[in-house]
Amino acid sequence: MKVMSFPRVRTRKELRQIITDWRQAGLRIGFVPTMGALHEGHLSLVKTALKTCDRVVASIFVNPAQFSPEEDFNVYPRSEEEDCRKLAEIGCHLAYCPDVLEMYPTGSTTSVRVDGLSDLLDGKPRPHFFYGVATIVARLFIHVQPDLAVFGEKDYQQLQIIRRMVTDLGFDIEIIGGETQRAPDGLAFSSRNSYLKPAERRNVGGLFAALHRARCRIEAGASIAHTVEEAHAHLLSCGFSKIDYIIVVQPETLTPLKTPVSVKDKTARLLGAAWYGKTRLIDNVAIHWDQVYD
Ligand code: PAF
Repeated sequence: MKVMSFPRVRTRKELRQIITDWRQAGLRIGFVPTMGALHEGHLSLVKTALKTCDRVVASIFVNPAQFSPEEDFNVYPRSEEEDCRKLAEIGCHLAYCPDVLEMYPTGSTTSVRVDGLSDLLDGKPRPHFFYGVATIVARLFIHVQPDLAVFGEKDYQQLQIIRRMVTDLGFDIEIIGGETQRAPDGLAFSSRNSYLKPAERRNVGGLFAALHRARCRIEAGASIAHTVEEAHAHLLSCGFSKIDYIIVVQPETLTPLKTPVSVKDKTARLLGAAWYGKTRLIDNVAIHWDQVYD
């Protein structure tokens, strides 16, 4: 019953009517942008927004600008009906499911580039990626005009890029990082996990295990360089074929850190990206040094 009545709009015009009514009623609006194929990770972002907002909008839009021609845009998992059912069940108020022309009108040439931060780490092998993300998120923000938006910490670089963009462009939107949701073996939920073969799925929890172990050692005072080397070797011995990076960074600028003393508030982020077969996995954990360096 709830599912049947769950509102879903496809145009900015329809969206604006609803948002205007909510605004006139003085309601606080939260927003969770997604590319659909919703899993527990996405749903927890919606639940986070529901905690402090009167109304929550989730968008479902597979954004062509963040895929290169060789990437998986055409086969990216799409399950809009199922997604809307899940959103309705947890109390989300509206799904915004625009088509490509609604987001990129004919002749569209305007893009948003968060230089620097977009060119590091995951931006190196996918130079188009974060420019596509920033462009679509800026456009979605303009369409939805939320008070608050929630992005998963799983995509940590993306979260920091969005924060930078919001500050630079003066969007009056509070950005919240949602805690990474994991399967029992530690694997972070991701829509692309559906690409993993069963034998691969059994082993990829090793990335989180390696990051977690490295975090504990670094927090206990072990050398960053040595611990990162160990994690590298461990992942290769567990069947990961290639490690793109395992790195400790300053949490906002993503600048590499060699020692804890260079961090003002004694927190850092340990990020990892590794290949298992044809699947590239990313994950990250927080590091807190306050116990040993106070
Ligand atoms: O994280 C994602 O799913 C996407 O990058 C986002 C933020 C919805 C933009 O397309």
